[in-house]
Amino acid sequence: MSGKLVLALETSCDETAAAVLEGTGDLRGSVVHSQAGIHAEYGGVVPEVASRNHLANVRGVVEEVLSYSGADLADVDVFAATIGPGLASALLVGASAAKGFALASGKPFLGVNHIEGHLLSPFFGRPEVPEAIGLVVSGGHTLLVDIEGAASYRLLGRTLDDAAGEAFDKVAKLLGLGYPGGPEVEAQARSGNTARFDLPRGMKHSGDFNFSFSGLKTAVRYLLPGMSAADLADLCAGFQEAVVDVLVHKTVQAAVANRRRLIAVSGGVGLNGRLRDELVVEAGKAGMDVVFADRELCTDNAAMIAYAAAQRWRRGEVSLLGMDICPSLGTELFKNC
Ligand code: KG4
Ligand code: ZN
Repeated sequence: MSGKLVLALETSCDETAAAVLEGTGDLRGSVVHSQAGIHAEYGGVVPEVASRNHLANVRGVVEEVLSYSGADLADVDVFAATIGPGLASALLVGASAAKGFALASGKPFLGVNHIEGHLLSPFFGRPEVPEAIGLVVSGGHTLLVDIEGAASYRLLGRTLDDAAGEAFDKVAKLLGLGYPGGPEVEAQARSGNTARFDLPRGMKHSGDFNFSFSGLKTAVRYLLPGMSAADLADLCAGFQEAVVDVLVHKTVQAAVANRRRLIAVSGGVGLNGRLRDELVVEAGKAGMDVVFADRELCTDNAAMIAYAAAQRWRRGEVSLLGMDICPSLGTELFKNC
């Protein structure tokens, strides 16, 4: 075995996930048990339902990932889990399980910030984290971070209201599309005319690196009366274009302002094809490269939590078993609660 073995758990929202990572690069196994189908009928995640399902699933997910990895609990060197931000009752399940394993085995525990997991996911497998501007665009978060290296970050800006993914989900709901909304809106937008509706680009020229998407969502709502199914594709295309326009503009500006030549995109909205294409074009014009998290690492998973834990652990960090979950953990965070 060339590196230490991390077993990580992720239960911050509606995925029960476990991963085993050897060193920083050898993913021995990753299992994601999604509850999306269960929450779809409510049009969003119901915390109580999520935590009950995590409880029911966590043991099986751990057994499955160990069996894929050809490892057993006694081989694990450090147990990690997401401690925040996320749903309290959901976070508790993964964090308690990991602490329990650590306590029973006498091995260390490491509490990981979910946002740091996303932020580093484009570098998954690399021993070193390079300098970059990180754009995290998920269902719960939208932020721009100046990355100096592993465990060294500076928050540049964030959304002041809805996260980008949340805006996709809310607009999808308004339009009668399914949950999660991002892929549904993107699919509709493919045959739509981006220019038909001139939708607001909230805070595009605010001079800082913060975002706002709630005005855009409201603008879509005001357009709804009088619209028919025939207008759906154009509405989706116009909405998506407005989100992508602001994200791309601010991300490239952040890289220019901080003299970074690499942009690292993570989170579920990072799966959006229009965002990917536009960012590559605009970053290219400015002489910058873009790296995206692998598709299976964009949405919630435990592999990214294991990688963030491995990066911290090799710097000598461990957490106390008394470390509590931190549902509102922010970016002051990257230092942990
Ligand atoms: O990273 P993630 O699992 O969420 C959080 O950790 O919060 O990402 C889920 C989010 C959802 O809001 C979903 O609608 C969005 O990512 N998403 C997309 C696409 N695929 C997923 N948004 C836009 N376009 C997509 N193709
Ligand atoms: Zn996430």
